[in-house]
Amino acid sequence: MSRAPPPPVPDPTKIFQPGLFKGKVVFATGGGSGIVMEMVKAMMQLGADAIIVSRSKEKIETSAAELSRETGQKCIGLSADVRSPPQLKEAVEKGVKALGKINFVICGAAGNFLAPISGLSENAFKTVLDIDTLGTYNTVKATMEELKATHGAYIHVSATLHYRGLIYQAHASAAKAAVDALSQVIAVELGPFGVRSNIVAPGAILGTVGMNKLSQKKDGEDQMGEAMLGRWGQKSDISCMACYLFSDAGAWITGHKFVVDGGEVHTPPQM
Ligand code: HXC
Repeated sequence: MSRAPPPPVPDPTKIFQPGLFKGKVVFATGGGSGIVMEMVKAMMQLGADAIIVSRSKEKIETSAAELSRETGQKCIGLSADVRSPPQLKEAVEKGVKALGKINFVICGAAGNFLAPISGLSENAFKTVLDIDTLGTYNTVKATMEELKATHGAYIHVSATLHYRGLIYQAHASAAKAAVDALSQVIAVELGPFGVRSNIVAPGAILGTVGMNKLSQKKDGEDQMGEAMLGRWGQKSDISCMACYLFSDAGAWITGHKFVVDGGEVHTPPQM
């Protein structure tokens, strides 16, 4: 069968209206690198200011400076561990003091590694749940009053690994399944306050820590035929989904999961 050429890689700045997020502030955990940094960057290119958070002070401050330089918008980089409610509270207070409010929150901090259950200590399992699940809960608790005030929205960055059983991913699958469930409850509890909550579940995205850590298949060209749409994911596939959901296009969308994976979750495993 001859394949259609792979679909284009979307550029949010060419798809969404300039100034779409002017006057808005996005707060993102795990915002210093990878998919989350790209989501923040797209929103800043469309006018938002940003507060990004991760564990390493040096790394997050460097990333914030880079985002400001590239977009011309304000970006504050703050160090906090999502496992620490007091550190998150302080980051929210500092961010709001500097930028005035928070309209959007991306819960994107995550930890992962490959390990069979037999090689997974109780602490290893718990560590990933603490970062992904408890970290999401902590971030929501630290930001929900801000979002109630602005009628804002959450995006929780999940994954597709728990939509079917994936070897060596017991910890992350359990953690992300819980994040999916948490998002639905946030949607129904905070909906009456005008706050939305959705899941974005990326598939295999090239050039990310997750892909480098978890996949042997780093060569997008060799594996191009594997996903239904004929190419691996790019970070902008995810940032476009974030821009859609945070814009008024997503105003009536809450409590749902958006899988962005080129259809990969529906394809049988390759031999
Ligand atoms: C087995 C491991 C392990 C491994 C760590 N542990 N790595 N066990 N195999 N490869 C165990 C340790 O031995 C320890 O248990 C426990 O986990 C905690 O380890 P620490 O190093 O003390 O934890 P910490 O410093 O908090 O680091 C957390 C981390 C780390 C998750 C282990 O990798 C991390 O912080 N990563 C952040 C960045 C990241 O990984 N991002 C990727 C997200 S990818 P014991 O019993 O010895 O005390 C993603 C996408 C998924 O989420 C979808 C992809 C398709």
